[in-house]
Amino acid sequence: MNLHDLFPDTARVQEGELVVGGFPVSALADELGTPLVVYCEQTLRERARAFRRGAPHALLFYSVKAFPNVAILRLLAEEGLGAEVSTLGELAFARQAGLLGDRLVLDGNNKADEELAAGVEAGCLIVVDAVDDLERGAAAGAQRVLVRVTPGIDADTHVAIATGHAGSKFGLPPEQAMAAIGQARELGLQVVGLHVHTGSQLLDLGAERMTIDWLAGFAAECRAELGWVPELVDVGGGLGIRYLPDDPVLPPETFARAVADRLARAWTLHGLPLPTLALEPGRSLVGPAGLTVYRVGVVKQASDTLTYVAVDGGMSDNPRPQLYGARYVALLANRAEEAPTGTYAVCGKHCESGDVLIERASLPHPRRGDLLAVPSTGAYTLAMGSNYNAVPRPAAVLVGAGKARLIRRRETVADLLAFEP
Ligand code: LLP
Repeated sequence: MNLHDLFPDTARVQEGELVVGGFPVSALADELGTPLVVYCEQTLRERARAFRRGAPHALLFYSVKAFPNVAILRLLAEEGLGAEVSTLGELAFARQAGLLGDRLVLDGNNKADEELAAGVEAGCLIVVDAVDDLERGAAAGAQRVLVRVTPGIDADTHVAIATGHAGSKFGLPPEQAMAAIGQARELGLQVVGLHVHTGSQLLDLGAERMTIDWLAGFAAECRAELGWVPELVDVGGGLGIRYLPDDPVLPPETFARAVADRLARAWTLHGLPLPTLALEPGRSLVGPAGLTVYRVGVVKQASDTLTYVAVDGGMSDNPRPQLYGARYVALLANRAEEAPTGTYAVCGKHCESGDVLIERASLPHPRRGDLLAVPSTGAYTLAMGSNYNAVPRPAAVLVGAGKARLIRRRETVADLLAFEP
């Protein structure tokens, strides 16, 4: 595996050890324990800048669900990004990072009254995802809203993370979206524009281009029927990342430029005034910037052809293999230069057979105490972690500028017991 295919930009091998952001992974693991999610500051900043280079005039909102973390929100805010939030909790993280007003978009298919009220109080642009968001939004004092429309486009991704298809639980079908725009205006809301999110982990531009072309047609219909045109078009997130060396490469700059160009072209074709573009990347910002470091425990030969390498985490810190059949590769961080000697099944410590992180990892024969580093795990891992088997969730550290900063402390068993009355 070529290190830079999947590990963060600053990853190096020095004296046989994996080093990220200038810190040997083994030193981080010794000091902070394992499992540990290591984020590379340079990669985070560079990916944010790449979006900006590709679409210099677009508004960029980090989709907090990928990894709700105050330090990362602050870092991305320094790069000019706002935040897309979909719950009270995500909003609290964004506010804690100092984001307010037009730096915030509030999404969500089932916003509670208190979420709408908090969103309005923070000055969020509110995304109308259902008809009853209108009256409840107006009652909460909302002013600026986007209407989310479901384009009926099937993205080439896992069924659980496609969102733009007909029948999606998100957004409104076109006729209802059109009616909602009219109704919103009657209620005195300012409908600033349209929102759409085609799907996640998209590695080609096909579905995104179709969505934008479709949206231009929809905007033209809105002009004809309502005399209304969107000033802002928010196309959500969706850019995929590489999990395996053979996965296609679609860099943020290429993606953002393609989206901005397509929007300009599609809008021009319909003779519509060019709107401001907004993007809500999540995975493509934090995913490749993060790697998870586990300590190897039991190495067990289960049959002539199957050896398990058990690590000190598993489906509680990364449930993506179980949820989406996600596949990963790994490297022994403390023996990074040794050639693989075979394939090993990397399993977790949880009490079910399905707790397998990597079915066939190509590694030098692992030993107890080795450190296993799994790249491309900065998004939707800790964010979707659980306390299954009463296992406390891992810590996260941010490395860069000569510093290693703990950005999320490790949970303890005492934290878990504290929930018990
Ligand atoms: N905006 C909206 C309205 C979204 O629903 C999402 C993701 C995003 C932005 C960010 O999308 P991204 O750039 O990360 O693709 N847990 C799944 C991914 C779920 C994505 C849900 N929505 C996974 O681990 O693959």
